Amino acid sequence: MIKRGGNGRIVVGVTGASGAAYARRLIECLCGGGIDVHLIVSPNGQRLLREELGVSEVSSEALFGRESKRLIRHAYADVGAEIGSGSFPTDGMIICPCSSNTLASIASGLADNLLHRAAAVTLKERRPLVVVPREMPVSRIDLLNALRLTEAGAVVCPASPGFYMKPDTIADLVDFVVGRVLDLVGVCHSLDTRWSDRLEASGRFQEDAGNQ
Ligand SMILES: Cc1cc2nc3c(=O)[nH]c(=O)nc-3n(C[C@H](O)[C@H](O)[C@H](O)COP(=O)(O)O)c2cc1C
Repeated sequence: MIKRGGNGRIVVGVTGASGAAYARRLIECLCGGGIDVHLIVSPNGQRLLREELGVSEVSSEALFGRESKRLIRHAYADVGAEIGSGSFPTDGMIICPCSSNTLASIASGLADNLLHRAAAVTLKERRPLVVVPREMPVSRIDLLNALRLTEAGAVVCPASPGFYMKPDTIADLVDFVVGRVLDLVGVCHSLDTRWSDRLEASGRFQEDAGNQ
């Protein structure tokens, strides 16, 4: 997996929405692909990692079973960390999963912790910000917050896996979402998430081209 261009650094925020498995796979894919992951986990994000994955220590070993120097952990309260400043270059930020609470905070410009501050910095520096909300159903307030963030330049990418790839396992569903998120930040991957790849593999592209 190779990041096209850029400086090989991505900020990842994990918040207290369901879907800790998405965060784990995302971080594993980024670190495994040679990207430095600057990780911030909200206190409620830590609770979700514990409740959904049984992970109480946030480290690469605990998350995906191997040591990675690419995982750089930051304290949630440390608004003075380097990623809280626009002068620290990154290739963008992903918040996965993103709670409605964090969606609202970022859409309102709040920045009283490092996760929200790093998101505000990503927007002001016009870098890619991908938020992966997980809530259902959504209120008008959630929708307006998502619209506000979209208008500010973020990409709202709901954790909503497609079924047209015929998933067999939960891991397939997780990979579908993570693959789309990696696409959005320009990180090449080999996760089987693209319908066009399936068409190509089945020869449909060639057949269609032959019929034209
Ligand atoms: C087990 C559990 C599951 C939750 N799932 C969601 C969820 O899927 N989406 C959401 O927006 N909030 C969810 N919440 C509520 C958030 O954790 C809560 O609003 C919290 O304030 C979010 O804080 P944070 O944004 O700082 O992480 C859940 C809470 C718990 C305890």
